[in-house]
Amino acid sequence: MATDATTAAQQFYGRWADLYDALARSTPGLGYLRSRAADTLALDPGDTVVEMGCGTGANLPYLRERVGSEGRVVGVDFTQGMLARARERIDREEREGREEWRNVHLVRGDATEIEFREPPDAILATFVVGMLADPEAAVNRWADQLAPGGRLALLDAAQTTRWFGWPVNQAFRGLVVASSPTGMKGYERAPWSVLDDRVAAARRVLRARADETTHSEHALGVVRITGGRID
Ligand SMILES: C[S@@+](CC[C@H](N)C(=O)[O-])C[C@H]1O[C@@H](n2cnc3c(N)ncnc32)[C@H](O)[C@@H]1O
Repeated sequence: MATDATTAAQQFYGRWADLYDALARSTPGLGYLRSRAADTLALDPGDTVVEMGCGTGANLPYLRERVGSEGRVVGVDFTQGMLARARERIDREEREGREEWRNVHLVRGDATEIEFREPPDAILATFVVGMLADPEAAVNRWADQLAPGGRLALLDAAQTTRWFGWPVNQAFRGLVVASSPTGMKGYERAPWSVLDDRVAAARRVLRARADETTHSEHALGVVRITGGRID
């Protein structure tokens, strides 16, 4: 059953899907980060990769490029408006590349509950775990669903821990409130602290479940990309 947070997220992203898509496409440096996150998955041609909370599909080209036409890309999201933009992106890529993307699929569903008949080789979640009430459970579940030796990668933004962080974090806090489906409402603590904790908790689980992890920080330490190979 949908919780208040789920309904608020779906309404928020449904309403702002166009703006989100424009920002996702035009923010300088984001393409580089998405490419790095996709690299972290160490995909091979023919692999199946699932993106949890795929939004408007900004990662799909990076994933499809790596698995090739013989692989499979599955984007999962629970917001219809975001998936509609992702569909448009796929259509655009097909037109521009003059090639059908028959192997790229979009699924409407809850990333914390979805199950796959065949275990994927890799799972990616970008800017998603900070939205989940129980990120530990989600990452554990994703790790459980992977094929043996599969890879899981997370890309997230949270407050920087660098020494010069104060002004950076002031700006970041404003961004967190603006991009939070409920603004300042519904949080027992500041939303940026909740986000920091969720992003850190997801990484703790990933590190505990993986036999090999990589971690890199970008954008003054605000963006983290963490990946691991799950046994
Ligand atoms: C900040 S956007 C990120 C979108 C995309 N990953 C990107 O990097 O541009 C978060 C997305 O996660 C989706 N989302 C959040 N929680 C979800 C859940 N439990 N199941 C499925 N989608 C979810 C939202 O609908 C939204 O599209």
